[in-house]
Amino acid sequence: MTPDLSALVDSIVARMGAAEDRGQVASYIPELAKVDPAQFGIAIATADGRMLTGGDADTSFSIQSISKVFALTLALGKVGDQLWQRVGREPSGNAFNSIVQLEQEHGIPRNPFINAGAIVVADVNLGGHQPRVAIGEMLRFVRYLSGDDSIAINEDVAASETTTGFRNMALANYMRAFGNVRHPVDLVLGTYFHQCAIEMSCRQLALAGRYLMLDGRHPDGGRVVSPGRARRINALMLTCGHYDASGDFAFRVGIPGKSGVGGGILAIVPGRAAIAVWCPGLNDNGNSMLGTQALQMLAEATGWSVF
Ligand code: DON
Repeated sequence: MTPDLSALVDSIVARMGAAEDRGQVASYIPELAKVDPAQFGIAIATADGRMLTGGDADTSFSIQSISKVFALTLALGKVGDQLWQRVGREPSGNAFNSIVQLEQEHGIPRNPFINAGAIVVADVNLGGHQPRVAIGEMLRFVRYLSGDDSIAINEDVAASETTTGFRNMALANYMRAFGNVRHPVDLVLGTYFHQCAIEMSCRQLALAGRYLMLDGRHPDGGRVVSPGRARRINALMLTCGHYDASGDFAFRVGIPGKSGVGGGILAIVPGRAAIAVWCPGLNDNGNSMLGTQALQMLAEATGWSVF
């Protein structure tokens, strides 16, 4: 029997509010270091159309790498399975910003969720246009998915990463040397940094994730992706969505999830729920410490799992 979700959300919010060890807020993007680590939000959009929220569920935060899910969805729509000639589908077992595998693997990133893979996806999404076209498309897409036109980009966060994103510059230049980044690096990174700087609340993010719990359908009936593609995006979230902690997330939580260094996690229970949690402090792998704990608590109490 599914427990009372509303009471469960309240107890998760209480537990996370009282936690003393909250991890460390990301500081390598200076603008993110300013965020108050005491915040915690959760939103659950259920397949039968309910929305349950708790804590700071309506506070906007930087979605960062969670944007890679939406960027991948758009890129697959443009080039289909040809994408897999330029990006792999295997967990990397390395940090999200690692460069080590790229030399041996000929500039082909392991998967679309590590930074190198997401930079190739951004290159695909640029498609010969200016970054503002690709960024505009991405914003329209997340606004459509969540049914909320107020979603916007935080230009200070994008600028902050543009001036400090040396690792991403290295990754992009390295892949350009292999011919796997095809546009000028500054245009590709301009696209990538802006998609990462999109701000959404837990409520907006859970709403945006509904197509992944509904076999690729928007709740308004429109088809976003085919059922097979929704399943594959979920499979990649499960196997690669938490970088070198993806195995641990699958072990502890057991559902597809994608994290971001802003402290958000989008998690999908196929056929049941799209969940967003947010707590800015990160663990050593760059994933939200309490966000992961909250999802584990939710999964244990509900029995939600893909296993
Ligand atoms: O490229 C970066 O480093 C950031 N814009 C995004 C990284 C990220 O969110 C990793 N996630 N946990």
